[in-house]
Parts: sequence; C-alpha cells; structure tokens
Amino acid sequence: MIFKKISLFLDEALAPTFYNGGLSLVDIFSLFYYCIWKDSVNKNTFHDIRKLFNEKYGLKNTYFVNSGRSALYLLLISLDRDYRDEIILPSYTCVVIPNAIRFAGYKVVYCDIEEQTYNIDINKLSDLISKKTKAIIHQYTYGIPNNIDFVKEICNNSNILFIEDCAHALGSKYKNMYTGTFGDAAFFSLQKTKMVTTYAGGILTVNNENINRSVKKNFNDLAYIDGLKEKKMIYQIINSYFKHHIIIKYFYKRIKRLVVNNLSSISKTISYYLIDPLKEEKSAEINGDMSKSYLEKLPNKLLLILKMQINNLDKDVERRNFYSEEIIQIMSEIGLKIPDYDRKMIYPSWNRLPFQVKSRENLILVLNKLQIPYSLWFDNPLYQSNEKTRLLNNYNKELYPCSKKVSEHIINLTVSRSVNWYYIKKLKKIADRFN
Ligand SMILES: Cc1ncc(COP(=O)(O)O)c(C=O)c1O
Repeated sequence: MIFKKISLFLDEALAPTFYNGGLSLVDIFSLFYYCIWKDSVNKNTFHDIRKLFNEKYGLKNTYFVNSGRSALYLLLISLDRDYRDEIILPSYTCVVIPNAIRFAGYKVVYCDIEEQTYNIDINKLSDLISKKTKAIIHQYTYGIPNNIDFVKEICNNSNILFIEDCAHALGSKYKNMYTGTFGDAAFFSLQKTKMVTTYAGGILTVNNENINRSVKKNFNDLAYIDGLKEKKMIYQIINSYFKHHIIIKYFYKRIKRLVVNNLSSISKTISYYLIDPLKEEKSAEINGDMSKSYLEKLPNKLLLILKMQINNLDKDVERRNFYSEEIIQIMSEIGLKIPDYDRKMIYPSWNRLPFQVKSRENLILVLNKLQIPYSLWFDNPLYQSNEKTRLLNNYNKELYPCSKKVSEHIINLTVSRSVNWYYIKKLKKIADRFN
C-alpha cells in the first residue's frame, strides 16, 4: 500500500495534468514539432487510433468528430426515421444533448434519475415507452455506469435502439467490460474537461451493423475541422499544459507577461492564436441554434493528441478509483450523500466525484478557505440551459423532482491527476470546520 501511494505521488508530481488528460512534457514537445513546424502527421495516425480503440476497448466502428453532441447527431441523422419519433434521455443532462436530438428532427422525452448513481431511474422508464420510441440514451453520469442489463433488455424487448452516453465514462467498466460496447451505438466526449481530450472532440462507435452503413456514408461526406481552428485548438492545449504544470506554471506566467509587455508584434500573434476557437459554436449553442460547423471530422493532428493520452488512461482510471475510496469515506463522515453503487459490477471512471450536501453555501465557504478545488457540474438539471433553450427543448424541471433536488444540492470534487496525499490531508480538515 505504502509503495503504491509513493508511486502514485511521484507519478502526479512528474506528470502534470492537461485538464484531466495525461500529456507529458515529451508529448508537448512532439506536439510543437508535429503540429506547429510540420505540415502534417503520418496518415496512419487515423488507422492506428482506430485500431487502438477496437483492440483495447472492443469498439467496432469508430468515428472521430468535433464533439460528443455532434457524434450523437451523426448517429441520429443516419437512422431510418419518422418525424414523430421520440428519444428518451435522462432529465439530468447537458442542454447540448436535447439540442442535438432536436436538430436531428426527433422529439425529446425526459426520464427522471435515481439519486444514488445519477443514472436514469429504471422504475420510471417503462411508462415512457410508446410505439414512437426510437431510442433510449443511457447516460453514465460522472462516469458511473448502472443498470445496463435492464436498459438493454427493455430495448431488445421493445425493438428500441440502445444508445450509451459515455461522455463522462471513457475507461469505465460494467461487469468487467468497457462501456460503449453494450449498446447499438455509443458516444464519448473529448471536450477539455473529460477523461481524455483534444480540446474539443467526440467519438461515435456503432455496434449495430445495420445502422453502420449509413453512418459510414454520412461520415465520409463530412469536412474536416479547418486548419486554422485545428492550430488554435493545439495552442490551447499547449497553453493549458504550461498553465497547469506544477513547476513551469511559475515561469510561464512571467515569460508570457514579459513577452506581452515588451514585444507587441509577438504578443498580437499569441493573442490571436489564443482566442477561443469555439466562440462561434458556443454562442450558437447558448441560443439553441445549430452552428455552421456543428459536425466535422477530427483531423489527424488532434487524433495524435488523443493517441498520446489513451495509453495512460487505464492507469489514470485506476488511480481515480484508488483515491475516490478515500475521498468518499471522508465525505460520508462529514454527512454528505455519497454515490452508492454495486462495487462488484461497476468500475466507474470518476470524471468527477459527485456529492450531495444540505447546505452547499456553507461547504463552499469551507472549501474556499482551505483552497480545495470543487465544481458545480449539473447544478441546473438541464445543465447550461437558459429560459430560451428550456422552452425550445420542452423542459420543465418541476416534472422531474429527483433531478431538480439533486441539482440543488450537488457539489463535485476533482479526482484528476492533481489529487495527491496533500489534497487528501486538506480534505480531512473539512471535518473541523463544517457541520
Ligand atoms: C452527459 C453529457 N453528454 C454529452 C455531452 C456532450 O459532449 P460535448 O461537449 O463533447 O459535445 C456532455 C457535455 O459535457 C455531457 O455532460
């Protein structure tokens, strides 16, 4: 145990985080080389990464696109459908999901969730199924995959497609098999806060061969993310790596300030490349509109970045599970509601650790005092929605009491690579200040 702790600590100290992913300094230098100086990377990158996903995760037909939402959209527009078709999804989700379903021309039907795992509540599912149900989206929220057998069976019995939302769950397992292998299709997110990242990106994997033919055709017709945007995404990754590096961050800030203050031409170039490349997409999504570049292919250089991180993922998920046990224990001792799941069947990826707390304001005060990072993912049950998008997507939170309640009490702690023994020590101090 003690050796494991030491090796985990060294690992974290030496391999700083790019958000949640695991790029090393060597990776960053090779990114500079391949992506800035060299025009293109080896064409085999695409085949290599596809093979890796097939062999490692057992995923059959894999498509790499510019976001998780567009991966879902690509799937939905490839299905045989009627304009009245309905898609069931959890009422505790990100607004981009009902947006994608609406853009693809389907009706959204929400199902409330269960408190313990934040997954769809299977007791409420059967009542929502009708002749018009085309698919169920089973979302493994925070990386906890629950009740897969049940949802699969209900789908099989009613001739409904089973779609896995693995946006938070790359690397998680159910009954010892990776998620993404159970449904007719699954999608993953490579957005910057997810398990591995290309700044923005998504993966669609299709297990059902009947659907795959038309997905393949639609995918082949797509354009790639354009070269300038790709470059900007890579600069964002490099910038963020240096910003989070345990040592470099101290020099980086100073060097950047020095350059910006003294070399105006270089500073202009830097600022230009560091403008958020997704500005246009984000503002369209907030308004509930489909952006011009909503669905595009992920180019080879970004796939190379994905490949660099995938090799470290299993180890990262193992480490997350190791620390999560300790963090969950500490949080239960101070009276927070902890995730409750079957440890024999479920191996979560823990994109975040979710807890529910009666008085969120009091806990936040303590966390801020102790300088412990936290987040409020899904503090709105239709996360990142506003009045307009709730109306467009026909969402009324009063109809989903559990989702509403959870969103009012949720707080997430990180279990990413920045977590170490010192962080755990700080967490233990919460007990003295919080009641
Ligand atoms: C549960 C869930 N599914 C899907 C997505 C969409 O992923 P992306 O941002 O890559 O489109 C998100 C986004 O955060 C999400 O939280």
